[in-house]
Parts: sequence; structure tokens; C-alpha cells
Amino acid sequence: MLDLNVAGSNYGNAGPVVLYDYRDTLDASLKVNWQVEDIIGGDKKLDFSKRFMPEALARVEELTFLNETEKLTVNQIRGNTYLSIFVVVEEFIVPFVLDHVRPLLNGDDYRVRALLQFIGEEVKHIQLFKTFAQEFKENFGSECKVIGPADEIGKTVLSHDPLSVALVILMIEWMSQAHFVDSIKDDTNLDPLFKSMLRHHWLEEAQHAKLDTRMVEYLAEGLPPEQIEKAVDGFFSIGGFLDSGLVQQTEFELESFELATGRKLNADERAIYIEKQLQASRWTFIGSGMVHPKFLQTLDRIGGDQRRRMDEAAPIFA
Ligand SMILES: [Fe+2]
Ligand SMILES: [Fe+2]
Repeated sequence: MLDLNVAGSNYGNAGPVVLYDYRDTLDASLKVNWQVEDIIGGDKKLDFSKRFMPEALARVEELTFLNETEKLTVNQIRGNTYLSIFVVVEEFIVPFVLDHVRPLLNGDDYRVRALLQFIGEEVKHIQLFKTFAQEFKENFGSECKVIGPADEIGKTVLSHDPLSVALVILMIEWMSQAHFVDSIKDDTNLDPLFKSMLRHHWLEEAQHAKLDTRMVEYLAEGLPPEQIEKAVDGFFSIGGFLDSGLVQQTEFELESFELATGRKLNADERAIYIEKQLQASRWTFIGSGMVHPKFLQTLDRIGGDQRRRMDEAAPIFA
């Protein structure tokens, strides 16, 4: 039995402020350390008779004009989106953490090892998500367009202040914790393979959330309030950019749905589909991280009034 000290959830108390220890984080990482082949490949295949995403994130039941088979299709399309969005975000996390660790190489060995482990795991996650996306593509039955290319999106994100980017990454890391603990762990209706992938991702992201907390603390240390405020401006600018990607992605999903089912939605149905599914994506990829108590706790610690800005923006992504 592994003692992983996995970071939990959610939407309640953040608990006491913890200074995460690099050695403990590295030890937890080394214990988890799964391989892509442990999860997918050979006879380990997706079961397309099952849902891939929990309803709290997919929100297909809000599309009341769809029958059960069509709702299943929407759910699976959202599963494919989940894979591709995580490839997009993890492809900018890798160079960001690489740049962060480079000047620290002569410092604390545990910090260097923990951060290099973090990078290695994200590269492995990208490979995991791409392997799932390939399996999806081969067996779903029709094309599902996704936004990209990931490196172009990454370039725009990485052009911002490092503290802005670190805050976005911190939000994403805590978000993945909330996804599993709040809505995936106890859902017995999900495809076991997709659920296993989400579980294995969660196990390693728990360490990333802690390491990114330390990165944010390091980057924010000693900065005057104006600069913290500017970094949070940058966070919102990246958030707006990612949100525009979600708008485009939702339109792609509607196209994918019509292609997969052969059903043409009327104008009213299309409007509802876009409205409900865009909001579901906003909650999945932004909102559920933005309201995470651990994310908010870090904001509280680095800068006076910045948390209030987050609280005000959160309903847009709820
Ligand atoms: Fe990851
Ligand atoms: Fe991560």
C-alpha cells in the first residue's frame, strides 16, 4: 500500500498552509511511477459502449433534445477533447519548468531532481494522452477536430510573465486533482480504461500541484504588490486566450457530433448545444481550478487583493 499523500479536494477548506518539501515530493513521485504500457495497449482498449467523462464535467444531460445514444456520443467527444486539451497545456508546461530549473541546477539536489521528475512525468503524460487519442481516432468511427497546433498555443502562453504562466499552471494542476476526487473516483459508470488513465494522471499531478506551488512562491518572493498585480493581469490574459480556444473547440465538437450521428440540429438546438457545452468546458478547464481552495490559498499568500479578482471572475467559468 503506497502512502502517496495525494492532494485531495475541494471547494471547502484549504487546510493549513503547507511548505511542500522537495524530498517528500520526489519520494512520492518515485513510488507512483507508472508506465504508459501499464495503462493502454494490447488488450487494454476503450469500451465505446460506456461514457468516458463524468457528468459533472461533460454536462450532456443538459442537452435534453438528445436521446441516450446521442448523449453518449457527446460524452465521448468531450473525452477526446479532454485528451487534446491536456496535450496542449502539458506541452507548454514542459518548456516552462525546464527554463525554471536551468538556473537552479547548482542548488538543492532534491529540488533539481523533483523538478526534473516533474518534467519527465509531463512528457510521459503527453505520450499517454496521445496514445489514448490515437486509440479514440481508430475506433470512434468519425473524425473529431481539435484545436491546435499545441506548440503555437504554447508560444503565446509562454510569451507572458513567468509568474503569470506559473499561476495558470498551478490552476491546471489543482484542477486535475479536483476532477478526479470530486467527480471521477466514485463514478462506477465510466469506461474502466479511461477512468484508469484519469486516475494515474491524478496520482502524478498531485506532486506537480505541490511543486508548482513552490515555483509560484519562488517567482513571487520579494515582488512589490504592483508586480504581483501585473502577473495576475497576465494570468487573466492567458485565461482569456485559452477561453477563446474553448469557444473554437466547442464549435468543433458540434461539427463532430453531427458527423458522428448524422443528425442535423436545428438553430435552437445548436444554440443550446454551444451554450451548455461551452460552459461545461469552461468549468472543466478553467473554473474548477480557479475555485480550488489550494490555488486560492497561494494567491492569498502572494498578494493582498488578488484573490478578490479571482473570486469575481470565477462565476464566468462556473
Ligand atoms: Fe500531467
Ligand atoms: Fe502536471
